[in-house]
Amino acid sequence: MRLVFVGPPGAGKGTQAKVICDKYRIPQISTGDMLREAKAAGTLDPELVKTMAAGGLVPDAAVIDLIRKRTEKDDAKSGFLLDGFPRTVPQAEALGKLLADRGQKLNVVVALDVGKELLMERACLRRTDRKTGQIYHLKYKPPPPDADLEHRADDKEDVVRNRVDTYEKMTSDLLPFYEKVGLLERVDGVGEVTDVTRRVLAALEKRK
Ligand code: AP5
Repeated sequence: MRLVFVGPPGAGKGTQAKVICDKYRIPQISTGDMLREAKAAGTLDPELVKTMAAGGLVPDAAVIDLIRKRTEKDDAKSGFLLDGFPRTVPQAEALGKLLADRGQKLNVVVALDVGKELLMERACLRRTDRKTGQIYHLKYKPPPPDADLEHRADDKEDVVRNRVDTYEKMTSDLLPFYEKVGLLERVDGVGEVTDVTRRVLAALEKRK
């Protein structure tokens, strides 16, 4: 199974990706996580650090290269879930070409739909455990007392607003692109995490 999760900041892509990847035994490949890891290691171009901190998109070439290298690894040979990539039509076209060159194709693109105000609350109150990578929410999924919590630099309210605006501009082209090629499944991302998972699984079952 090769699938893509598209959705605005805080839509629940990372939360749902962990459940789906466990079930299908495929790796979760998140360009956001890879960029943050490179930043933490001090290997990310300072210009890209600034772009991320302001809530903008890093250049297509940078993320396409990350995806090309990561999807070549052994654990991704029989499938993967791309979380947060592609975000633009040039990224989608590059992904299509990269897979076609390997005789592969995508099964489905899942778009998680969540309204703007709920996105703000979800992203601003998110906390992640530095050691385990577990995603928590101060209201909906409170962390245990011993968690080593991190508040993402781009989860401040004004930056989240920029990220949501950037997403809206980006999807005005990306979602029609995937709809046209018959790969798009829209899923309501509002409700309990388990209810959203059920909807995502129903969408995937149709495309297996
Ligand atoms: P990235 O890390 O991909 O961030 P994002 O797309 O903005 O998504 P988030 O990680 O904010 O949200 P999510 O949908 O995963 O939500 P989560 O499950 O954590 O990208 C960061 C930056 O990197 C970008 O801004 C850009 O600069 C750069 N970048 C990355 N990819 C790029 C690309 N392809 N091209 C160019 N630039 C790129 O959930 C959020 C919170 O809500 C959590 O606290 C969770 O516990 C809670 N929650 C989740 N589901 C529910 C639910 N059903 N009910 C209640 N709470 C819930």
